[in-house]
Amino acid sequence: MGLSIAATAVVAAAVLLGLQLHALSELRETATATQRAALRSYTKAVLRGLEDFYRHKARAALDVPAAALRSPEALAAHFGAQDGDGVRSFFAVALGRGERALRFFSPGGRPLALPADAPEARAARVASAPWQLVAEDGGRLEAVTSVVSEQFPAHRVIARPVVDAQGRPVGVAGLLVDEAFVRERYLPAAIEAERARLPEPLREGIAATVRTGLDDAGRAPGADEPDAVELPFRFVFSDWALAVQARLVSPEAWARRSLRINLGLSLLMTAALLAAVWLALRSAARATQLSQMKSEFVSHVSHELRTPLASIRVFGEFLRLGRVSEPEKVREYGEYIEAESGRLTQLVNDILDFSKIDSGRRSLRFEDVDLADVVDETLRGLDVRLRQGGFGVEVRVPAEPLPPIWADRAAVVQVLTNLLENALKYSGGAREVIVELAPEAGCVTLCVTDRGPGIHPAEQERIFERFYRAGGGLVHEAKGSGLGLAIVRHLVEAHGGSVGVRSRLGEGSTFRVRWPTHGA
Ligand SMILES: Nc1ncnc2c1ncn2[C@@H]1O[C@H](COP(=O)(O)OP(=O)(O)OP(=O)(O)O)[C@@H](O)[C@H]1O
Ligand SMILES: [Mg+2]
Repeated sequence: MGLSIAATAVVAAAVLLGLQLHALSELRETATATQRAALRSYTKAVLRGLEDFYRHKARAALDVPAAALRSPEALAAHFGAQDGDGVRSFFAVALGRGERALRFFSPGGRPLALPADAPEARAARVASAPWQLVAEDGGRLEAVTSVVSEQFPAHRVIARPVVDAQGRPVGVAGLLVDEAFVRERYLPAAIEAERARLPEPLREGIAATVRTGLDDAGRAPGADEPDAVELPFRFVFSDWALAVQARLVSPEAWARRSLRINLGLSLLMTAALLAAVWLALRSAARATQLSQMKSEFVSHVSHELRTPLASIRVFGEFLRLGRVSEPEKVREYGEYIEAESGRLTQLVNDILDFSKIDSGRRSLRFEDVDLADVVDETLRGLDVRLRQGGFGVEVRVPAEPLPPIWADRAAVVQVLTNLLENALKYSGGAREVIVELAPEAGCVTLCVTDRGPGIHPAEQERIFERFYRAGGGLVHEAKGSGLGLAIVRHLVEAHGGSVGVRSRLGEGSTFRVRWPTHGA
């Protein structure tokens, strides 16, 4: 039954784990997708912001009236009125066959003197070239839009044609983008400001990096983080990309970690469940065993009670009916009756004692007790039995006086009696018993040794359990209730001492009791 319960527990735990695993993998996918979508919309917002920033600037600042083209003062006034953030310099050039004066202005509108072969001038001319061609052909423009020229990445240009009333390009106004401003001021501020778009847990844990030098496929060197969302810039800086990564534990890692925790917990729960099942089974087995032992005990005790009662009744009847007249026989029968009633009294006392000890009703009166004295007294009480059985008892007491033990004298007598009775009862053919006393640190030890058949190692601990009787052949011969050693252990432990047995089959047994001395 135990196995089937354990198997059920294991299967249930496995099913639970499987379900968890499934739910977690789904959760992981959704969480990853959600996180990526949030990062993507954030990145897009930052990029769109920069694009709008330059588109608006270009539309406002580069909308130069055709008339202003030929007047440096008018151009200075126009550019000076613009917001110069993000602009390194403005320029304007008149198109046509005549003089093509290229004029540069600072963001504040001051004219700048740049040599004709300055890289800025070259970049401005390259950006203007398409409209120059249209102007030379006398063509018209279909739409006026700002155009980005990134031929020279160090001098990015946004340019816009200036058209006359007929829509013919007559000039170009442009600006050189201030890359340092974008990189050091605009992007950090935008990256910060757009955070509010992110869900709360991501907000503090993102890292945004600008990658430059993308190749034609839009890839930056070394950009390979699997979790990063990376989008290219569009309007200006088309060789840049913004990569945003959640520095928080990624959902995958989080899911993996919680899976591990769940796995551990489930294993722990299964182990606990199995342990509980095992404990329940064991205690059920113990309870069954105890009740079996009790019923054995009842049948034992009734047998024990019936046998002496039967002999007492038979001998009593003989005497009453006057069947025996010789005084010798009368005395012998009288002795039987006395001995049998003695056995009965002993048995009843044992049972009462045990029930008292077992229910904690037995109180101990502690005093200093001389153990050697108790041994003498107990052996004297057993004298008749010893002599009748032909037992030799050797008492070994050290020459110097032993320290008194702190004990209830009657309890000590009972412990010694129970041990001696066992030694006599289970002595087999060897009628030799040794009682030995020895002082030890904080206690005096009492050993009772016999040369009987010994006790099987598997039973050496169990014989101290109540009602337990070892299964050897002797048990069937020797009468007993299985309470003697349980009483011994209870009493000794109530004194703060301990009792144990050392025994080898066929060689005998030694029961050793440690009695604490006063103050130990
Ligand atoms: N000296 C011994 N040698 C061998 N077996 C022993 C010895 N002492 C005890 N045992 C075993 O331990 C069992 C329990 O002993 P315990 O004294 O508790 O009960 P009992 O002697 O059977 O009955 P009682 O209650 O009358 O003493 C005995 O049945 C016996 O099998
Ligand atoms: Mg006994």
